[in-house]
Amino acid sequence: MSTPAFPIVIVGHVDHGKSTLIGRLLHDTGTLSEARVSEVKKVSARRGVAVEWSFALDALQLERDQAITVDSTQARFRTSLRDYVIVDAPGHEEFLRNMITGAAQAEAAVMVIDIIHGITPQTRRHALVLNLLGIRQMIVVVNKIDSADFDEKAFTRLEAEITALGREANIDITTTIPLSARHGDNLADHSARTPWWRGPTLIEAIDRFQPPPAAADRPFRLAVQDVYRSGADRVVVGRIDGGRLTVGDTVTLWPSGRTARIKSFHASNSATPVIAAAAPQSVAFALDQDLFVERGHVVASATAPPRRGRSLRVRLVWLGRTPLTVGYRLRMVVGTAQADVVASRIHHGIESGAVAGNTVAEATFTAANDVVFDSFVDGSTLGRGILVDGGEVAGGCAIMSSDAAMSGATTTVGADERRLRNGHAGAVFWLTGLSGAGKTTLARAAERVLFDRGAQVMVVDGDLMRGGLTADLGFDNDSRTENIRRVAEVAKLMTSNGVIVLAALISPLASQRELARHIIGPAFHEVLVDADVETCAARDVKGHYAKAKAGELKDFTGISATWERPAQPDLIVGAGQESVDNSTQRLVDYIASIAALHAAAA
Ligand code: ADX
Repeated sequence: MSTPAFPIVIVGHVDHGKSTLIGRLLHDTGTLSEARVSEVKKVSARRGVAVEWSFALDALQLERDQAITVDSTQARFRTSLRDYVIVDAPGHEEFLRNMITGAAQAEAAVMVIDIIHGITPQTRRHALVLNLLGIRQMIVVVNKIDSADFDEKAFTRLEAEITALGREANIDITTTIPLSARHGDNLADHSARTPWWRGPTLIEAIDRFQPPPAAADRPFRLAVQDVYRSGADRVVVGRIDGGRLTVGDTVTLWPSGRTARIKSFHASNSATPVIAAAAPQSVAFALDQDLFVERGHVVASATAPPRRGRSLRVRLVWLGRTPLTVGYRLRMVVGTAQADVVASRIHHGIESGAVAGNTVAEATFTAANDVVFDSFVDGSTLGRGILVDGGEVAGGCAIMSSDAAMSGATTTVGADERRLRNGHAGAVFWLTGLSGAGKTTLARAAERVLFDRGAQVMVVDGDLMRGGLTADLGFDNDSRTENIRRVAEVAKLMTSNGVIVLAALISPLASQRELARHIIGPAFHEVLVDADVETCAARDVKGHYAKAKAGELKDFTGISATWERPAQPDLIVGAGQESVDNSTQRLVDYIASIAALHAAAA
């Protein structure tokens, strides 16, 4: 079997000479046909320029535009050591998309930096993206050395900055080479014009890239693509992402965590029975037990199982047109599994709380159920998530870790048992409204009535929580979002244990209430306590409005911070001159109808 071509990616700021470098690389490795070389020379002469090697790429581009298969969009070349394939270098966004979705894989990178312009913000972003895509080795070409008169000092100065960039992006820069793509200095041959350069040529440096570790040496992983019945057997189909599989092996199935053994392989058209397979082969096999498996599940090594979690910390590349903000909902594809997630925190890599298009950031995504994954550093496909927004790939992420506390130990007391004993189901009534609207008053009044009827009921009050669990948080939007996230998690825990929860928090932004709804799920009900700013300010029970108006209390909702009144709450109470008694009565009636309070308990 021939070794597959070594995939490399060539990146660089648009004007720094990337296309010329690729064209010249193809020429100097003898890849371009004579016809194409003379074509390039002819076109260059016609345009009155010295030989312009990037024209070689224009010809390739033409072929690419007419091509049908993905493979033919890639330029290949050969050195005395091995074959290379340049993975989709031009068309930056398309390249990112392909890398993210796994349609293209590169092992190493060549980054082109113009000696005159140096490191640009785009260069920096490329380095971070490469790291995110799992690239660990990189050559930096300091291009257009001829335009700096082959000056060693100019090169050394830039080299120091490049080393710092590599450290920052956590990429191993194997070599930094002074080079002229246009004239070929230090590309295939050592240039007489840089006698001070003792390092390798570009081609020598490329040949020094380390080959990737074999996927078959990683722990066993298979993302289930399909399951079908064959006689009494349930046959599982998928591509082995890592490791090897032999008949008799014990494996674990995820998300169930159940264990089974490989009974047999089902080969479609092979005369000799298959008994072993390794990554990246596709296989079909039967288990020795009839366990439930479906597309999206993971079959894994029993000794090195994957991880699972509901709250995933990721590093991401965002290509979406709309900025990614907290509360944004997406679909995350990991292996063959899909999970609906919401961006619950954006840690950094952003300004003003949003990730603008085409950039890198770190965020936490929360899913409704456990996601089975590997940590990105393990090199497994399950360490990578594709972010889909409205059917389109909007980005990709490297999954770093999960919040272990979120992952799902199940309780031994069933929800049904709790419901029977309590006479009602658990549910959350999220009271949103301005400070002084009456959220706490109404929550406490309803609590009294419900308690007296025998219900399991609790109030989670923003003001009280801010004395403890959320005491570290302030009132800027991010802090409020975190406040709401924590309280929503607490409410979720309570409600899943059968409790009726009355949560009273301003929760001023629609995205924050959406986040709470997402965390809590269908048990979430939005109740607007609808007193307007004038009414609340006139009451001013705590004297906050007076202070806020005098500028002594900053970020005060309704005065110096945004209040987004819910457009379609499930219930509105306290509007106009509605009395506390009346509001309480309607709130209790609503809760009773939702939680189906047992009539006998009334
Ligand atoms: S939320 O916006 O994060 O949902 P939360 O309901 O927990 O707010 O807390 C609001 C309470 O904090 C108010 O009732 C008020 O007593 C107090 N508070 C102090 N500073 C502010 C402020 N700048 N804006 C709003 N409430 C404030």
